[in-house]
Amino acid sequence: MIILKSPAEIEKIRSAGRVLARILRTLGESITPGVTTTADLDALARLLAKEAGARPAFKGYMGYPAHICTSVNNQVVHGLPSGRVLMPGDIVSIDMGIELDGYYADAAITVPVGEVSTEAQRLLDITRQALYVGIDQARVGNRIGDIASAIQRFVEKHGYSVVRELVGHGVGRKIHEDPPVPNFGKPGRGTVLREGMTLAIEPMVNQGKPQVVCLPDKWTFVTEDGKLSAHFEHTVAITRKGPLILTVE
Ligand code: MF3
Ligand code: CO
Repeated sequence: MIILKSPAEIEKIRSAGRVLARILRTLGESITPGVTTTADLDALARLLAKEAGARPAFKGYMGYPAHICTSVNNQVVHGLPSGRVLMPGDIVSIDMGIELDGYYADAAITVPVGEVSTEAQRLLDITRQALYVGIDQARVGNRIGDIASAIQRFVEKHGYSVVRELVGHGVGRKIHEDPPVPNFGKPGRGTVLREGMTLAIEPMVNQGKPQVVCLPDKWTFVTEDGKLSAHFEHTVAITRKGPLILTVE
């Protein structure tokens, strides 16, 4: 069941989103190549959420043990923070959800650690752009398939692939709501978008083949072929005036 949100509720999600965007930016800026571990990012995320009066939404969700997901290089999503030191040339996806005043926002960025290869940088750029291409379709009267297919077409046009096993989702009163928001599909198919829907749109883009596998830790997804993967996510409201990105400062 899709929960439509009132303008007042969208404002609440936006407040959560504002806090979240600031936390993610701060986390990205905190990385010292060769020094910072993904567990350091997790600890800082916990602290920054606490200071903002927000609750990290992933911790304890289905037993998830950390406050953020940190996915490095060939890791796609749901990477567990650990003692791994972020090294120059790595790319790291930082994914976080927070609850503020009863409402949830969810967002992710992938950032370069120090100098990265031009191929890695291009993957980041295309994945970020794919998110905005998807968001541009998040309009009243369009369908979920319009978002999905726009992302897929853009990604594949640039020689990359989209992950099939993991998808975006509704978000707002809970961290995961209906409908699923895939990053692949056909235009004109799926749920019709209505005013008041709030969606987490989150392309996961692989440099090589689309297949992913889950590690024995039961959380971390990695690319099957070992190539790089990137991930960007925003929480977006569907309004009469067009898509409204809620996870911005
Ligand atoms: N960020 C993921 C998403 O966008 C959720 C992570 S769930 C957790 O859906 F359990 F790993 F926290
Ligand atoms: Co999400």
